[in-house]
Parts: sequence; structure tokens; C-alpha cells
Amino acid sequence: MRQYIIAGNWKMNKTVSESVELAKAIVEAVKDVKKTEVVIAPTYLAAAKVADVIKGTNVKLAIQDIHWKDQGAFTGKVSVDMVKEIGAEYIIIGHSEQRQYFHETDETVNLKVKKTLAAGIKPIICIGETLDERNGGKLESVLSTQVKGAFKDVSAEDAAKCVLAYEPVWAIGTGVVATDEQAQDTQAFVRSVVKEIYGEAVAEGMRIQYGGSMKPGNAAGLLAQKDIDGGLIGGAALKADTFKGIIDAAEAR
Ligand code: 13P
Repeated sequence: MRQYIIAGNWKMNKTVSESVELAKAIVEAVKDVKKTEVVIAPTYLAAAKVADVIKGTNVKLAIQDIHWKDQGAFTGKVSVDMVKEIGAEYIIIGHSEQRQYFHETDETVNLKVKKTLAAGIKPIICIGETLDERNGGKLESVLSTQVKGAFKDVSAEDAAKCVLAYEPVWAIGTGVVATDEQAQDTQAFVRSVVKEIYGEAVAEGMRIQYGGSMKPGNAAGLLAQKDIDGGLIGGAALKADTFKGIIDAAEAR
């Protein structure tokens, strides 16, 4: 019922020319994909050129982050209008690398979510716990705080446009993937938090991706879980064939 969404987060990888090549290869690889929503998130620098490559195809553009202000003296940042002009349909917000290295907080996530929605773009809101938090029994409180913080003062109508990405920090880039059961149990809990805020209809409609060492070899098991509606892919999204391998697992469902 919920459409699978497989998104490639290229992070700080690929030059502009490499990005154009990868985008072309992905367009070719997924041209017959019908059921699954396919999204790629190149760097800021490559985004406009990648947007030209994917125009008119079934591949959509995401941007890796924005600033919540409209414009001005914010060296190094990009505004939502700039992203909108090149046709981005999604913005990744609150990635754990932003939280860990660049002072992202639940408050800034919330400001960015509201700015993104006001511009008619859909947020992909990332949440996830560290290993210490999981082992220390704080899994549910951490995730609940992140979800509630992200959606503060966001209407149900707007929340329904958002995608959540559950990315356990300990599984990102480590090769250690959450088990199917760990991911399912956690994502069911995340959905219950959305239900607590917005009720059944929004919670049941919301797509929740899994992210963290997802690969063609483990994607089928994860995507078979009831509360896993796609993937946010790092390493395996940097090659067209491995990215396609994960999309194939979604298409086969
Ligand atoms: P990896 O797939 O490389 O673990 O990265 C996941 C991620 O952080 C996607 O946003």
C-alpha cells in the first residue's frame, strides 16, 4: 500500500563529472522501474547538473541539507529557494552526520522541516540512536524525542508529506546492518510515536525508510518487514549496479 522509496545519499562523494556519469548510469539502469520511487541526493555542487540529467525520467532529485533562513550572510549554506529552482523534490534533514559533526539539533531539524514543507518540498527526516544509547536502554526515548522534535508545530496535513528514515548510527558505513527483526521492531515503535502525535491515518500512511549498511544482499529481508518502506542508502548507492540491486528487491515485493 505504501510505495517503496529507495534513495541514494551520495554524501561527500563524487566530483561533478563523476556525479553526472553516475546519474546517467542510474537513469539507464532504472528506466523500467515502475512501482518504486527512486531518488538520488548528490552534493550541492553537482545537484544542478544532475537535475538536468534526470529531467523527464523516473529518477527524482534530493538535496542533502538546507539552511532554514531565506538568504543572507550564512557562508557555506544553501536556501530552500535555491533547491526549489533546480527541481528538487526531497530534502534530507537531520542526518546523523549532521547531528554528530555539524551541531544539528532537534530544534534546527524542526526549523528545516517547516521551511522545506512551506516551499512545497518533501523532507526526508533522519533519526537514529547510537550504540551506547541502544545498549543503555535509551532507544525509545531517543527516537521519540527526535520524532516529536522534528514534527513540533507541523500540521497533520504537512506531516503526511514527510518521509522518515530510521538510521541506527552504529550501522552507518560500518557494514554492521541491523537485523530484520531489530529494524522492524524499532520502526514499528517509530510508527507508534507518529500515531501518538497524529493518529492512525497519518501513521499508517507515512513511509519509514531503513538506512545503515543496506546492500543488495540484505535488502530483500529488510524490505519484507511490515514497517520498512524503503531504504536510505550510502555506500551501495555510489554504483549503479548495487543501487539497482536494492531497487530490484523493492520491485520484487
Ligand atoms: P551506508 O549505506 O553507507 O551505511 O550509509 C547509510 C546512510 O547514512 C544513508 O544516509
